Amino acid sequence: MAGIKKYLLLFAQDFVEFRYPEIESLIKLFKINVEVPKPTPIERPYWILENVEESEVRQIASRSVSLKFVAEIWSSGTSYDEFHGNVKKLMPLIDKKYKNESFKFMVETYNKHIKLKQRIEKIETMNYLDSVLGTIDLKNPDNTFVYFEYYGIDDLNVPVHPEHIYFGRYIADGQRDLFNKISLKTRKFIGNTSMDPQLSILMANQGLCSQNDLMFDPFCGTGSMLIAGALFGSYVIGMDIDYLTLHAKTKPSRALQKVRAADESIRANMEQYNLQNLYLDVFVGDFANYPLKGNLKFDSIICDPPYGVREGLLKVEKKEGRKFTAMTEDAVHYPSLSDYKMTNLFHDLLNFSVKHLKIDGRLVCWFPIPDKFYDDTIFPQHSALKLISTSRQQLIGDTSRILLTYEKIAETGELVKNDALENVDFRMKYFTQYDKERKETRHKNHQKNLEEAEKRGIKLMNKTEWKKYVNKKRQAEAMDKDS
Ligand SMILES: C[S@@+](CC[C@H](N)C(=O)[O-])C[C@H]1O[C@@H](n2cnc3c(N)ncnc32)[C@H](O)[C@@H]1O
Repeated sequence: MAGIKKYLLLFAQDFVEFRYPEIESLIKLFKINVEVPKPTPIERPYWILENVEESEVRQIASRSVSLKFVAEIWSSGTSYDEFHGNVKKLMPLIDKKYKNESFKFMVETYNKHIKLKQRIEKIETMNYLDSVLGTIDLKNPDNTFVYFEYYGIDDLNVPVHPEHIYFGRYIADGQRDLFNKISLKTRKFIGNTSMDPQLSILMANQGLCSQNDLMFDPFCGTGSMLIAGALFGSYVIGMDIDYLTLHAKTKPSRALQKVRAADESIRANMEQYNLQNLYLDVFVGDFANYPLKGNLKFDSIICDPPYGVREGLLKVEKKEGRKFTAMTEDAVHYPSLSDYKMTNLFHDLLNFSVKHLKIDGRLVCWFPIPDKFYDDTIFPQHSALKLISTSRQQLIGDTSRILLTYEKIAETGELVKNDALENVDFRMKYFTQYDKERKETRHKNHQKNLEEAEKRGIKLMNKTEWKKYVNKKRQAEAMDKDS
């Protein structure tokens, strides 16, 4: 189509807050010269990009996992009459080549589900396009045309007619298929804390991971971030304090798996996805005392630091820091683990990033925070790192984690004093209290159950009796199935 080109970017409905930082990062990665206005409201599932080339929106689609697809907009309207009037006006401008090419229609709606029959009816309302389009080919068309109806974002108040209707040419899908490719269900080695594939890819996009870059995850666990970084061509290195995790010697996390297979490992995962050439290695190390030389520089540092919930925040204690009962001059020092305060960990992470990132390199990390302590000023800051974006994910138990993306802007600088952050230590101020509250509630409920059971003359089982009972029941069920 001649004239100014406009593209419609339609997003999937999940991780709404992550869309904008992802697309902004990809625009930077591909050096695309376009301003993307922040969508309002943030939940609006589509944006319109102007002043970009088709090749540029294809680049965005080649990496984005928030995006469903991109289409070149040919026409639009806010009522059916206006929409069809506009499409008809456009018909003389449609390139003659489309008459000689095959096509199919794709009907998309937002906030209203429509059945196949209604989809076909929508397509039939555009039969007048027959004179400018070629023949239909549903399997292998030269072109796909998109008909999109938008019914607003209020799912409790869906309008009868769409608020906006768009018609255009489909350009490309986003990369949502990548989740299946690296799905945790089929991944060789996973653990309790393995990162969700969609989020790990989002993080690699925010970290601008690309061909021949060097990416580091200082809390790599089972190596999910290494997979995501390598998917986009970065060489990857990981570190973790936990020898057992790094060597796949922890208890299996899959429900039906009793022991780990001998060949489970981070390397085996890389081989599973044919990324072994980009896997440099992983090593055991304590972030509080990391063993890296100062001149080692990374393009990105991407990580999910420990929260102290599923895995403890620990660091290896120095000889001077050990318990006073063992403090004699001649005592042999066995390294022990001590608590690693959340605030200190993040300060260390920012200092480490300033030291080990290249200029313009990015640190992407999760920051956990109880909802009651959340505010926009809480995030750790460093004068040599620009905080580019913050995207919040609600977790269970009145807790959120925020994905923070920083960019290194100077070789040196200082941590910015942040009283809000100093006042909150996730583990100290919340979880210890939260755990205590939970334990008390559980105890109260247990007592109540005991009393109820006694009243009804039922004998309650203890833990061992309960386990035996469940196992017996399972065996009986399995035998039933076999017979
Ligand atoms: C949230 S998990 C990361 C999970 C990882 N992204 C994955 O996909 O498996 C945090 C990791 O930090 C590690 N860790 C805790 N304290 C550490 C320290 N002081 N230095 C390095 N790693 C540490 C834990 O062993 C754990 O594997």
